[in-house]
This record gives sequence, C-alpha cells and structure tokens, in this order.
Amino acid sequence: MSREILSVRGLNAAYGEAKVLFDIDMSVATGQIVACVGRNGAGKTTLLKSIAGFLKPTSGSVIADNTPLTGKKSYDIAKFGIKYIPQDKKVFFDLTVRENLELGSYATKDYNWDRVLGFFPKLQLLMGRKAGYLSGGERQMLMIARAILGSPKVLLIDEPTEGLAPGIVTQLRETFRELARSTALVIVEQNLPLVCAIADKVYAVRDGRIVAELVGPEEISVAACERYL
Ligand SMILES: Nc1ncnc2c1ncn2[C@@H]1O[C@H](COP(=O)(O)OP(=O)(O)OP(=O)(O)O)[C@@H](O)[C@H]1O
Ligand SMILES: [Mg+2]
Repeated sequence: MSREILSVRGLNAAYGEAKVLFDIDMSVATGQIVACVGRNGAGKTTLLKSIAGFLKPTSGSVIADNTPLTGKKSYDIAKFGIKYIPQDKKVFFDLTVRENLELGSYATKDYNWDRVLGFFPKLQLLMGRKAGYLSGGERQMLMIARAILGSPKVLLIDEPTEGLAPGIVTQLRETFRELARSTALVIVEQNLPLVCAIADKVYAVRDGRIVAELVGPEEISVAACERYL
C-alpha cells in the first residue's frame, strides 16, 4: 500500500527580501516519482533546498513520514532520510569513488554496497578513480549511489540528466524506476520526454508557484507540461 511520505503545505521561501516561493503545496507517496518542471528561475531548486533544510522557509510546513521537519537543519533532515542531490554535481573530487562511498557509509552506517552497486554496476570498475576524473554520467551515478546508502525515504534530485548523453539518460530512466520501489523520488527535470516516461505526478512551477498538478498517464504528456513552461 502506498502512503504519503512527504507533505509540503503552504510553503513560502525567500532570499533575504526577495520572495521566491509562494504557498507551495506538494504531496509525495511511497513508490512515487514526482517531477517538478518549470522555466529557468521558476524556483525549482529553491523548492528542493527548502525541503532539504538548506534554506529556512519563511512559513509553511514540511512533514515527512508524519514527522514535522520544518526549520530543522539540513544534516538532521538528511539523517531522517530526506536526501538532496544538488544541481551542481559536487562530489569529493580528490577522493576516489571508493572513498566517496566510504564517507556515505560512515555517515549512514550502511555498508551494504552490493545493493548500491546493483543499481550502478559501472561504479565497481571505477572504485579506484578520483571522482574529479569521472564523466558527468559517472559522477551522477556516484552521487545517487552515495545518497541511497542508508535507504533514504525520499531522494530529491535536482536536474539529474543535465548535460548527459542520451544513452546515460536512458540508463538512468530505468534506474529511477527501480529506485522508486524503495525510495520515493522528487526530480527537477527539464527533459520532458524523460519526465513523461517516469513520473507518476508532475508539478509545474512558474514564478515560485505551483500552477499545475498533472497525475497519471492520462494527464502527463510533453504537450501538457509545455503549456506551463
Ligand atoms: N542564493 C540566492 N540568492 C538570491 N537569489 C537567489 C539565490 N538562488 C536563487 N535565487 C533566485 O531565486 C529565483 C529562483 O531560483 P532557482 O534557482 O530556485 O530557480 P530554478 O527553477 O531552479 O532555475 P534553473 O532551472 O535555472 O535551475 C531566481 O530568481 C534566482 O535568481
Ligand atoms: Mg535549478
């Protein structure tokens, strides 16, 4: 049975005086892939940052698994199982893939690498490589691999396919569907065909507001999404 795992209610956020998000309502259920689409500057990244605790909302609430998280520190939110993968793919460049994963394991006490490498077998071949030398696709795999240590409740991923070759995007599409069985996904994504292939629900964000909520294959289409861009 699926149940609500993340709920955002009346969320407002600002950078100093500049208001960016207005009365955002969002709901994510277990097993779901929820996509956020919108133009550059619409507020998508700000939304994920506000959920993950990197930006303190000015009002509203974020509730995960029936636990209020609003105003908590990003570290505690991550520990609770809401993991954020930022748009700038920051890994520890000087550390190897193995060392990056070790840090993830250290933080989560999850040393079950078989599970993680099951999603990204290629990383097995790259264990000794410094993360700074990885391709964009490999780096994205490493970020997701590190983030799913500890089996988080929700993964918030900001533009996972930005700048990646079509082959890798196809691969990630399959991985996202598999991942969603154990971790709900909220994905900010500009690639609308990908969104339509994987999303159970789409929120369209415009000027800091949710202007549309599309649910299910009947409503989710490239044309429907484009209407709100
Ligand atoms: N650190 C910041 N300080 C001040 N303003 C910011 C900051 N980060 C973002 N903004 C502003 O907030 C608004 C929303 O930005 P945000 O990065 O959330 O948009 P986005 O939808 O993720 O855009 P993109 O598709 O380009 O990534 C923009 O007007 C942006 O200029
Ligand atoms: Mg962004």
